[in-house]
Amino acid sequence: MDLLLSRKKILVTGGTSELGSAFVRQAVARGAEVHFTWHESKARALALEKTGARKHRVDLGSTESMDVFLKEFLAAHETLDVLVHNAAATADARLGSLSEAEWDRVLAVGLKAPFYLTQKLLPLLLKVRPSKVFMIVSRAGLEGLPGAANYAAAKGGLIAMTKVLARELGKKQVLVNAVNPGFMKSRMTENVPEETFQAALERSPTRTISDPEEVAGFLVYLSSGLVRGVTGQVFHFESRPL
Ligand SMILES: NC(=O)c1ccc[n+]([C@@H]2O[C@H](COP(=O)([O-])OP(=O)(O)OC[C@H]3O[C@@H](n4cnc5c(N)ncnc54)[C@H](OP(=O)(O)O)[C@@H]3O)[C@@H](O)[C@H]2O)c1
Repeated sequence: MDLLLSRKKILVTGGTSELGSAFVRQAVARGAEVHFTWHESKARALALEKTGARKHRVDLGSTESMDVFLKEFLAAHETLDVLVHNAAATADARLGSLSEAEWDRVLAVGLKAPFYLTQKLLPLLLKVRPSKVFMIVSRAGLEGLPGAANYAAAKGGLIAMTKVLARELGKKQVLVNAVNPGFMKSRMTENVPEETFQAALERSPTRTISDPEEVAGFLVYLSSGLVRGVTGQVFHFESRPL
């Protein structure tokens, strides 16, 4: 199987996340030119840069910050093969104590940024046939997650946007799909109690939680030339039966 990504240019947001860094490393190892965004995790970004990937500091919660990045990126690049919307913010609270600012920030990073970046980078994506956009989503966006109305709304919005953009851009050979990586150990889940992990393991038919390396490998496969006609889909890595 040819999973080489040589000559492919990839941009992934949140390269400093557990899943993002696994994908950056695997994509670089397969020959891609990889660009990733980071925001606060400087040490992680510097370590990742040593793989040969190129880092860009962007606050995805700020249109001004995205504009600075886009100006530089659009001036330097004419094409883009793969765009992965992986960064996500959380600010968990039940409705009664969820502040407007926390609602706005989580929706800005998790939903507005994917819209804005895809729109502004579309001219580069249209020069590659097929090009690919991936939304990293969550079961929260399908079923809800108590205490995370903002995060769940962002992920539900991304799933809807995946389906709309797949239909709008299909004829132009821009393939748009979503991947739900399932429950992974990462900074996002570091405060999740051990019992919740145990419960997830017990629900899982294979008694496992998701491995970011495995999800990253699946993204490599979807990014490769082997996949040319799949769009509008949501792929689930789940630790329990659907
Ligand atoms: N972990 C899970 O169990 C799970 C389950 C389902 C779906 N997911 C999804 O999978 C993806 C990766 O999750 P993960 O657990 O690997 O993530 P993570 O390790 O918690 O990292 C979050 C990422 O988002 C970036 N980010 C947050 N706010 C930002 C902002 N304002 N501007 C720019 N970047 C920002 C962070 O950048 P810096 O660190 O550089 O600030 C970091 O790279 C996310 O989309 C998440 O929703 C995760």
